[in-house]
Amino acid sequence: MISQELNDRITRVEDGTGAGAVLRLYWQPAALSEELDTARPVVPVRLMGEDLVLFRDNSGELGLIGRHCPHRGADLCYGRREDGGLRCPFHGWHFDRTGQCVETPGEPDGSRLAENIRTTAYPVVEKNGIVWAYMGPGEPPAFPDLDCFRAPESHVFAFKGLWECNWLQAMEVGIDPVHASFLHRFLQDEDPAESYGKQFRDKAGQTDMPMTQLLREYPRPEIRVEETEYGLRLIALRHMEDGRSHVRVTNQVFPEAICIPISNEMTITQWHVPIDDTHCYWYSMFTSFGNPVNKSLMREQRLKEHRLPDYAPLKNRRNNYGYDPDEQARETYTGMGLDINVHDQWAVESMGAIQDRTKEHLGKTDVAIIRYRRMLRAAIDKVEAGDLDTLPLRGPGAEAVQGPVSIDAIGPTERWDDLWREADAQRRAPCDWAAPLAAE
Ligand code: FES
Ligand SMILES: [Fe+2]
Repeated sequence: MISQELNDRITRVEDGTGAGAVLRLYWQPAALSEELDTARPVVPVRLMGEDLVLFRDNSGELGLIGRHCPHRGADLCYGRREDGGLRCPFHGWHFDRTGQCVETPGEPDGSRLAENIRTTAYPVVEKNGIVWAYMGPGEPPAFPDLDCFRAPESHVFAFKGLWECNWLQAMEVGIDPVHASFLHRFLQDEDPAESYGKQFRDKAGQTDMPMTQLLREYPRPEIRVEETEYGLRLIALRHMEDGRSHVRVTNQVFPEAICIPISNEMTITQWHVPIDDTHCYWYSMFTSFGNPVNKSLMREQRLKEHRLPDYAPLKNRRNNYGYDPDEQARETYTGMGLDINVHDQWAVESMGAIQDRTKEHLGKTDVAIIRYRRMLRAAIDKVEAGDLDTLPLRGPGAEAVQGPVSIDAIGPTERWDDLWREADAQRRAPCDWAAPLAAE
């Protein structure tokens, strides 16, 4: 349990203090590149409680500026793409990519009004299927050399989905290794050969056992959490009856991403980006260490569950997430279908728009959540003290941070700490883009 005051401090992003000030010091996913693959690439973006418009101008450059025209507030999403910027259709004021007003064509001849008009504008860059924005003060930080950024575009697939809740509870489900044994439990196992692009459907480590069976049969993992240069490493050990253990390595990447294995070939790095205090998008980068990603299949799988243009899930609280008590009795733990994203979405949305942490009771298995909140609080304190260089992934050397290792492995229990490192090294060795990681 924490106080209301602390809960506000670590969850709210709109007032520019607390968590919001920390998140603004990092590149944030603002849109998928595919959203701009249209004849008129201009899309509304709401990020950290601010309404913005993202566009590709007529020379192909990206711009991200305030959505409402500084003249009298009309919506620039309907703007004309002209001359390296956007022109408001109401009275023709023209804004360049830096947010500077460069023309007020209805004002009297010789007017210098435009010179003094500037709207919000944020730097944007495109990387592996995602358009990233920097909304903080000063120079943006370098991107770390994580696998999802280092991999060539052919090996990364990006997608997103809307969750109607605060970003922190969304992120916290990703650093909670126990829930996979319950929330995502399948009472029957599917053939792992049918698993492409789906979480927890591959074989466990280097065995023939489906992950679903392992998670179901060993629901009490031993959880270890270590602080790292990028955030937290979580190691969940499931000790099996035969003297072997399953080791699952997942990560919290500061400030609001997780990095987890999805199959033996692929990892997901997933950001939980605040739209505002009570809504967020997950942005996932699926990164393959093997073959190029089958993007059309992965997109098709996900488009069956989401509607465009806002990537809102078709199953949601308005239709009870498709809840079916018969299915719950026979097939799945939730009764909400086989898509594990829906399970997570139900878990985090059903807490309420912002989870009331004054009423929670954390257990021993919530250790990573406790450690993460401690890191976030320390970061908030540092930002308030103006000490930005010692924030995770912000200071000198951040651009050299690699990995993180996200993998499942199985082997003799006493060798658990070697097993996952060996499995990762084996996966990287034949991969033409994933450099072996420096030994720690
Ligand atoms: S409101 Fe945009 S030009 Fe007048
Ligand atoms: Fe989950």
